[in-house]
Amino acid sequence: MRIMVVGNGGREHALCWAIAASPLCDRLICAPGNAGIAEVAECIAVGQEDVDALVDLARREAIDFVVVGPEAPLVAGLADRLVEAGIKVFGPSAAAARLEGSKGFTKDLCRKYGIPTATYERFTEVDAAEAYIRRQDNLWKGAPIVVKADGLAAGKGVIIAKDEAEAVAAMKDMLAGNRFGTAGSSVVIEEFMEGEEASFFALIDGEHVLPLVAAQDHKRVGDGDVGPNTGGMGAYSPAPCVTPEVARRVMDEIILPTVRAMKAEGAPFRGVLFAGLMLTKSGPKLIEYNCRFGDPECQVLMMRLKSDIVPALLAAADGELAHFDLRWHDETALSVVMAAKGYPDNPQRGSEIHGLEAAGKVEGVAVFHAGTKRDGDRILANGGRVLNVTAMAPTVEEARRRAYAAVDRIDWPEGFCRRDIAWRALTPRG
Ligand code: AMP
Ligand code: GLY
Repeated sequence: MRIMVVGNGGREHALCWAIAASPLCDRLICAPGNAGIAEVAECIAVGQEDVDALVDLARREAIDFVVVGPEAPLVAGLADRLVEAGIKVFGPSAAAARLEGSKGFTKDLCRKYGIPTATYERFTEVDAAEAYIRRQDNLWKGAPIVVKADGLAAGKGVIIAKDEAEAVAAMKDMLAGNRFGTAGSSVVIEEFMEGEEASFFALIDGEHVLPLVAAQDHKRVGDGDVGPNTGGMGAYSPAPCVTPEVARRVMDEIILPTVRAMKAEGAPFRGVLFAGLMLTKSGPKLIEYNCRFGDPECQVLMMRLKSDIVPALLAAADGELAHFDLRWHDETALSVVMAAKGYPDNPQRGSEIHGLEAAGKVEGVAVFHAGTKRDGDRILANGGRVLNVTAMAPTVEEARRRAYAAVDRIDWPEGFCRRDIAWRALTPRG
């Protein structure tokens, strides 16, 4: 098969790495890719958000199967356009991608179908939103108040306000279009949930569901989970908090009802559904859905996957997941994100990275590129999150040791990483 992956991050490097290893793959192209992806796929400089150009490229290269990494082209209708062009695609239609593209859509779906999530209301008018925040019998009573822009905001559209005044200010800022443009022209205001967070993934073919393994990531930029939110500074799998009992509840109470609901609403979901979960005292609750693999969660999933990924992605696209199964390594995979100094606000670009080859030689390690470009013989930083140093080993401790041994072989003074990835998995539970 001739396969094309869309995207340019570490998630897409990991997908290309897994797809390139499949005997079903004769030719692999990636649009636009990066310097690391270029080692396993042919990179073609078409922007990941240019839907027309991507469809043209797939036609021109006689692509049999397109795997879409990021959410933006899915929300913009890339999967629909490829299907119209007669090209098979892994990834949901625009109607199904609303699960990520509109937080309000997902909250309303949860309410209608009884899926556990934070109590909320949606607003487009400042006065009504302010009245809700300030209601006498309100939910928060000293707890933080969560204010969310409805649309895509590159992971930045959530404000955890410490009090009513901060919540009102965040809401006004969003509705005025100052921070998130049209993504903020509608807001969700919701209850703050307490608990441990986990990332749960399932392949879905419109009707049938194949749960994958769970992971945890680290959203804050600094050690000890401090500082601003990021796209994710590291991930590991398995996630000890997602016990078999928790996984069963997530399937029965959240994932399966959502899949049935989307079918009933006339927008069956095909692709990978990524549930951001809060494991609360009263059970798992949905924080949000994403219509794609997590980044960097995908990197640890691809490392743990023993089976060929291509037949699984094809089965999801073809509606044939009913009797499908995947095999996984029992070991722990752990990924450390190396970011350019200044990330997430203002990452420096263009610095040179040395030592990648030596890092890749550490036992059990693969170095995925998240934001790099090649300049002759040099590899340059070209983004916020730049590298994902990923290791697998029989224990969390050893996976972590290997990952940081590889990090220490990378000579890149302009980069940084967290030093505590997987701390939760190494902290005794009780
Ligand atoms: P998101 O951009 O939707 O992934 O949200 C970013 C982060 O905000 C999540 O990973 C959670 O840590 C936090 N968050 C979002 N909604 C809530 C909520 N209702 N209660 C507590 N934390 C939340
Ligand atoms: N790592 C979280 C995400 O991909 O949204």
